[in-house]
Amino acid sequence: MIDIHTHILPGIDDGATNIEDSLDLARAAVADGITALIATPHHADGRYTNHAAFVTEQVERLREELANHQIPLEVYAGQEIRVHSDMLDAWSANELATLAGSRYILLEMPSSSIPKRMLEYIHELTIMGIRPIIAHPERNAEVVKHPDKLKEMIEAGAFGQMTTHSLLGGFGKQIERKAWQLCRDGLIHIISSDAHHTVRRGFRLKEAYNRLKSEFGEGFVKTYIANAESIISNSEMIDCPSKSSSTRWLNWFKFTKSAQKG
Ligand SMILES: [Fe+2]
Repeated sequence: MIDIHTHILPGIDDGATNIEDSLDLARAAVADGITALIATPHHADGRYTNHAAFVTEQVERLREELANHQIPLEVYAGQEIRVHSDMLDAWSANELATLAGSRYILLEMPSSSIPKRMLEYIHELTIMGIRPIIAHPERNAEVVKHPDKLKEMIEAGAFGQMTTHSLLGGFGKQIERKAWQLCRDGLIHIISSDAHHTVRRGFRLKEAYNRLKSEFGEGFVKTYIANAESIISNSEMIDCPSKSSSTRWLNWFKFTKSAQKG
């Protein structure tokens, strides 16, 4: 399994505070069945600044530590970029990192609302060949009230990333309900942990996939897993699954089977 959103780098944001924390997170990731993850420290959120070159340097150091401690985990560089008005200038200045050097970037909206120019940013980034992924939309108050606004963003070229803890109730009942609704409605392409700390906020990726499998079926999980792999391999993601499309697929399968029998 691949986790595309984590705060594993030591001492540069509100995730791992030191290298011991990072190594604990890495061991927990391996125990959860994760083989590769992307380090996505906060960037430009008013609290933390972690430019692309700095993140790459930090990832190199962590790789060395992982090798020294014989922890079998691949780590790639990325960022969780707060949506801000200078984003396109920052891209031109090479301050922004894509996820694992791919065409995808991870964007974070403020938790209270959707930025006014959000659709415009998605459109401009898409024209530049960059594919924006919206981090945990289920935790944005405006998306919770108006899920259609997330649909508009996806239609404009963005992708949705759901957090394991939201699905598993870690952020309360309201977010849990909304998280399942967004998956059911086909507005989510990838599941990841947004892990910060082994105890306070770990991975729970396997647990989330197992719950999704029992609620919505294996096809959902396979798509989410394939999409996470597509980021690492810089290939196109498959359309997000939805309850209605999986029902259609099931009907098609039943029809084919009965046609074969008949
Ligand atoms: Fe995050």
